[in-house]
Amino acid sequence: KKTCVAVILALVFSIGLALSAHAKPIVVKFSHVVAENTPKGKMANKFRDLVAERMGDKVVVEVYPNSQLFNDDGVLQALLLGDVQLAAPALSKFQKYTDVLQIYDLPFLFKDMEAVECFQQGPQGMKMLQSMSNKGILGLGYLHNGMKQLSSSSPLRVPEDAAGKKFRIMTSDVLAAQFEAVNAIPLKKPFSEVFTLLQTKAIDGQENTWSNIYSQKFYEVQPYITESNHGLLDYLVVTSVEFWSGLPEDVATELEDTLADALAYGNEESYNLSQQQKQMIIDSGRSEIIELTDEERAKWVEAMKPVWDQFADEIGQENIDAAVACN
Ligand code: LMR
Repeated sequence: KKTCVAVILALVFSIGLALSAHAKPIVVKFSHVVAENTPKGKMANKFRDLVAERMGDKVVVEVYPNSQLFNDDGVLQALLLGDVQLAAPALSKFQKYTDVLQIYDLPFLFKDMEAVECFQQGPQGMKMLQSMSNKGILGLGYLHNGMKQLSSSSPLRVPEDAAGKKFRIMTSDVLAAQFEAVNAIPLKKPFSEVFTLLQTKAIDGQENTWSNIYSQKFYEVQPYITESNHGLLDYLVVTSVEFWSGLPEDVATELEDTLADALAYGNEESYNLSQQQKQMIIDSGRSEIIELTDEERAKWVEAMKPVWDQFADEIGQENIDAAVACN
């Protein structure tokens, strides 16, 4: 009888062991809208690979690029519903949830990417990661893409050249105000529709980084690109408060450290890709790159900068001052 009990106990024990060894890893779905050969695409894949390497028995990251799962207008809703666990929309796409992130859309605010880095890693930038916690969205870190350029079906040298023209923008009132400031017509449209809108000439132009203009082939349907560096396109990696707070503490910490490594890699790639892909556009001969003289650039600054005052109350003047101090 005793041996019988011992055998049963041993059986129960080994079944228990087998079950715990096969405990299902936590699945993290990461949805984004760009191609894989972009700063965000590369960062996401790097994060997936690092997680597999370091904690593959506990967590599996699945990456869905190219708006395959959700576009940026739908992904935050999906995050809140638990259909995805990670996303990294452009900072311009959070207007429904917070006002302060609108700072990143102010035209001609940051002199270069070093100034952006200075502000993001400073106290104001760090505090903004939490600005949507009360709405259930948690910022985990920033990722760079780079400065935006203006592409168009006709040459844009001075603000008057943009008057009456239709430009696609992301879902941001600051970006709308920026184009209205030069008497252009802004249209909020999802990223996945931009190529077709340009190709069919439903719109005249758009603003984006070298990386997006290259990887989405906008340069094939836009004969002119003005090197304006007038604004920033960066991202916030976000998760839901509900998902994140439900993770075992050690898992959350390890994921956060791993994400920091993936972000550092993505930020470095953003610089390299921007240089390389700008050169590929030049080499293609499909688009003429317009370099502005100091005088011409000053005219764009003069026309667009009043947008800062329009949004100073919502953003907070102290935040704008801190950003300017980073230049
Ligand atoms: C855009 O909509 O133009 C960008 O946000 C796309 C992206 O994620 O880089």
